[in-house]
Amino acid sequence: MPALLTPSPPPAFETRDLTKTYGRGSTRFDALRGVSLRIEEGESVAITGKSGSGKSTLMHILALLDEPSSGDVLLHGDGVAGLSNAAVNKVRNATFGFVFQQFFLIPNASVLENVILPLKIAGVSPRERRRRGMEALEALGMADKAKNRATDLSGGQKQRVVIARALVNEPSIIFADEPTGNLDSATGAVVEDILFDLNATRGITLVIVTHEPELAARCDRRIQIHDGLLVEEVSA
Ligand SMILES: Nc1ncnc2c1ncn2[C@@H]1O[C@H](COP(=O)(O)OP(=O)(O)O)[C@@H](O)[C@H]1O
Ligand SMILES: [Mg+2]
Repeated sequence: MPALLTPSPPPAFETRDLTKTYGRGSTRFDALRGVSLRIEEGESVAITGKSGSGKSTLMHILALLDEPSSGDVLLHGDGVAGLSNAAVNKVRNATFGFVFQQFFLIPNASVLENVILPLKIAGVSPRERRRRGMEALEALGMADKAKNRATDLSGGQKQRVVIARALVNEPSIIFADEPTGNLDSATGAVVEDILFDLNATRGITLVIVTHEPELAARCDRRIQIHDGLLVEEVSA
């Protein structure tokens, strides 16, 4: 079939003129001021920019954790504006994995319990949860820590547990907000390698918020935000 007739898959994300305003009156703040972008399936994209520029706001809107004040988000070609809360939760749980700087692990639960939480939410049976949880921990070299309390781990080990939890639902998109921000550089490099390996071997789309130039440079593309607006893309 001629290439021109081959339908290309819809992008993982498309946004049209997103705005986000926090507060009102004298505390009103326009965090996003009209952001239109596309992120293709299987791409690795860095969202960069100074502190306070709107990076996390943009990521939270893409990840359906927050709603824009105006504008549209399309996920795999479909608008998300009309979805009910229940539908949004379902999409988020089934499609996205999250790797945030502040880990968000349940401190008194075991490593395995933390990892299988998304499967519990999705209604997967206990036996299957355990199987898939252990598989994810094995992939991250953390199977021997399954019974540890999540607090009894080093920073790098915690971040591996977070990645195992992000993977357990076999997401097609991973969001990482400053994923190496709390790690020393050697441990951070290991975590980065894991993320890019998942991108290369499983085709998982990576959306990484970072102000670290080295991490941004490893991504296929950089989207730079300045005061709530996209800055023209720099290709190197
Ligand atoms: N919930 C909120 N209420 C009020 N202002 C907020 C809120 N969240 C973020 N902001 C403001 O919006 C701007 C962008 O924030 P954020 O997206 O977190 O930036 P970044 O991740 O690039 O550091 C900042 O000035 C921040 O203070
Ligand atoms: Mg931020």
